Amino acid sequence: MRRGNRNYAQMALVGAIASAVGIAAGLLIDWFPTAASTQSGPIDTLWDVLLIVSIPVFVLVATVVLFSVKFFRVRPGEEGEDGDPIHGNTRLEVIWTAIPSIVIASLVVYAYLVLDDIEKAPANPAKERHVHVQARQFAWQFRYAEKGADGKPIVSDVLYLPEDESVMFDIDTDDVLHDFWVPAFRMKIDTVPGITTHYRVTPNRTGTYEVVCAELCGLGHAFMRTDVKVVSRADFDKWVAAQGKPAAGAAGGTGQTAAIDAKKLFTEGNGTSTACGACHTLADAGTNGQTGPDLDKAIAQDDAAAIKQDIVDPNAEIYPGFPKGIMPQDYEKTLSPAELDALVNYLDKVTSK
Ligand code: CUA
Repeated sequence: MRRGNRNYAQMALVGAIASAVGIAAGLLIDWFPTAASTQSGPIDTLWDVLLIVSIPVFVLVATVVLFSVKFFRVRPGEEGEDGDPIHGNTRLEVIWTAIPSIVIASLVVYAYLVLDDIEKAPANPAKERHVHVQARQFAWQFRYAEKGADGKPIVSDVLYLPEDESVMFDIDTDDVLHDFWVPAFRMKIDTVPGITTHYRVTPNRTGTYEVVCAELCGLGHAFMRTDVKVVSRADFDKWVAAQGKPAAGAAGGTGQTAAIDAKKLFTEGNGTSTACGACHTLADAGTNGQTGPDLDKAIAQDDAAAIKQDIVDPNAEIYPGFPKGIMPQDYEKTLSPAELDALVNYLDKVTSK
């Protein structure tokens, strides 16, 4: 056997072993969290197929490069000499154009068929539940067609979905590009200013999963998270029925503020306002957000008037170490005057030493 042929045989063997090891490792790794939608299975299979096809391609390129470096490097005394000129090789060019084209075209068709299939409309699309997803720096909000006890459409900072029912998300953003992603459902799509984007899933496993933002959208990007709770239809109906009821307030107060649960307002928002606890740490409320200052420290010395200014005009005075403009500046609009007072009183009470 000629030396060259032996090298090629060696290269093919090393490549085959590396591909096999790579594919085995790729398939053994648990890439995704628990699958909780009917879309998850086909997506995970698609992922595995892409891995199985791409690893040998990567190995082929890497092996040829490494062998070339080893066997075709310039040896001492060869400096300045060029190899024989090559003027095309039709057969080689046809092969290396045709094979990748066939591989890529096959994967494109397969991926298209999978995506088309998992986003099929349900049997009765008119009856499908729509949930409106509103993204903003740095929180998610979900609006339902279902109405709460107060007759208004339900708005929630936590996404509730009944099991085994197809849901269509209509996704908008207040400000910049975000990306609405529930890893357990596998589907994700950008939120784009000025247009409404959509996708559809059918949750098929009860439990609590993460909603995350998958598009770098500013300082609070990593904290732009909430939960999705997939529940039975009966529990979902119970949740719907409980929405819009006046919050049970702390007893003993007077006037409207007595009916407002300021701690709940702080941790969950009122449906329109961004929840303070999403970005701020506050021991009394049990929140540990890091996007904004730790309120146990930042406002301990502030009186009620200063705290109110911090909420309605956050840029007036900036806490050291935090940039201007990351806190929503619309609390005077999203909170009612009574809610604002309740929140100010609450913060004043729990942070003053
Ligand atoms: Cu919103 Cu990243």
